[in-house]
Amino acid sequence: MTERTAVTTLPDDQMLKLAAQSMFDVFASSAMGSLLVDRQHRIVWISDSYKQFLPALGFESAEAFVGKRVEEVIPNTLMAQVIDTGQPILVDLLSNQAGTFLVSRLPLRDAAGEVIGAFGMVLLDQPESTMQPLMAKFGRLQRELDAARAQLAAQRRPKYRIASFIGSSAAAVEVKRQARRVAMTDSTVLLLGETGTGKELLAHGIHAASARAAKPFVGVNIAAVPESLLEAEFFGVAPGAYTGAERKGRDGKFKAADGGTLLLDEIGDMPLALQSKLLRVLQEQEVEPLGSNRVERIDVRIIAATSRDLPTMVAAGSFRADLFYRLNVLPIRLPPLRERIDDLEALVEALAEDISRRSGLVHKGLNADALDLLARHDWPGNIRELRNVLEQATLMTDDLALTAAHFTGLVADATSAARRNEVPNPLSPPATARLLPGAPLRPAQAAMPAVVAEDVPPMQPLSTAVAELEARSIRQALQHTGGNKLAAARLLGISRATLYQKLPLIGVVPGADENAGAPPHNAHPTVGAAGEPTQGD
Ligand SMILES: Nc1ncnc2c1ncn2[C@@H]1O[C@H](COP(=O)(O)OP(=O)(O)OP(=O)(O)O)[C@@H](O)[C@H]1O
Ligand SMILES: [Mg+2]
Repeated sequence: MTERTAVTTLPDDQMLKLAAQSMFDVFASSAMGSLLVDRQHRIVWISDSYKQFLPALGFESAEAFVGKRVEEVIPNTLMAQVIDTGQPILVDLLSNQAGTFLVSRLPLRDAAGEVIGAFGMVLLDQPESTMQPLMAKFGRLQRELDAARAQLAAQRRPKYRIASFIGSSAAAVEVKRQARRVAMTDSTVLLLGETGTGKELLAHGIHAASARAAKPFVGVNIAAVPESLLEAEFFGVAPGAYTGAERKGRDGKFKAADGGTLLLDEIGDMPLALQSKLLRVLQEQEVEPLGSNRVERIDVRIIAATSRDLPTMVAAGSFRADLFYRLNVLPIRLPPLRERIDDLEALVEALAEDISRRSGLVHKGLNADALDLLARHDWPGNIRELRNVLEQATLMTDDLALTAAHFTGLVADATSAARRNEVPNPLSPPATARLLPGAPLRPAQAAMPAVVAEDVPPMQPLSTAVAELEARSIRQALQHTGGNKLAAARLLGISRATLYQKLPLIGVVPGADENAGAPPHNAHPTVGAAGEPTQGD
């Protein structure tokens, strides 16, 4: 107690003196050499370590050196400038006949603030060699950064054009006509359609056909980002707002898409609380990063997409009416495949070619009976499901032509169940709940209990039974949606993030292989930059 009182009652000026003295001692002893110069530029003191430089400067003793004007004895020094301007030069390179040095120069002031001299330190000699590893590392990092930037820019270039939307049916032609028309404008576009109908593909196409084509195309899948992270994902984080990895701050997707196009995918999954904030951003074209009190102007064309029935959500109060009207400026409805089954052959042709190109397998044509079979299927997963079915059939045989038999087990079950009105796939939405344009993919709750675990042995711990049941439901849902995790999550009535957490139950490590699909959005903040629409996801 007494000790403490003694320290805290030390007069301020004495504290300052001690602090100054301590700092001076530390600098003087840790530097490779230091010197003091007075108001008249005269050297008044040098440290013992400084004496090592004297011979190279042409002096034999400290006595001969001290007292001289600094600019006369140390070529190229800026000590005089520091004294005259009162401004420190914290880090500088000094070169003269004695070598090249990393130096630091600080002005010294009296109690009234007047400059009375300067303190100079040699921090390092031979910095070219001492700092060489650091400089080399800096150069390497700079080159890596340039390469990463170029790669990112390439990734953000649109992968698809409007013409990539295959189909010549009246419905498909109309979709492409509307897409070309909206590409000419800067207005918000709303893409509505069931899962797998090509919303993401068309969003890329619209961007590519717009005046913003050379600028970034950025996508954010709202359903895949945990609610707590969405705001940061959208608007960014100001430096210092968080500790840890985020302490440096980062740009949000709006900023990343500046000048270009931002795809707000699965907009129907946007939490209500964030909807009002999004509306404000769309109206003001300004974002305020988390933890910042500064707004940033942004110039972004918005394309929103959803497979959910927004008007019904508005009526139910789970989607803001004002946001809906704001987004619904230029709606484009993408027809489900069963409404444009005339396009099946062209789609099969294009998809089979793409599959063979990507897999390196020979292109396989479809016989008429195979096409007939596919034409009778209902395609709840639309083009994505078609693609997956074709891919599986292609991989499962060496035959060059695919017949109906090659598709047994891939589409037949669903087809016959749907056609004959038999007991539906427990996870398949009942016909009445079949997706209207953008209707939610949620199963009728009543359909769920049909997933009974007949094979689960009795008398096992409840946790094991539950895990087995969960695994089976997840497997079935994924099968049903052709591997589309978001749609599977919807069928199961859980969030995509929850589905990802549960994937290990079915032996899938998220992100471990292509088939497992992309890892959840939050695992890699950069995943939000939309690349190619991921197959089977
Ligand atoms: N008209 C089309 N022509 C060619 N390929 C298509 C077409 N429509 C969709 N596809 C392909 O089908 C797959 C799914 O498309 P996309 O991801 O754009 O669907 P989506 O409507 O965004 O689905 P979700 O609602 O599930 O996100 C992709 O592989 C895409 O390339
Ligand atoms: Mg999509």
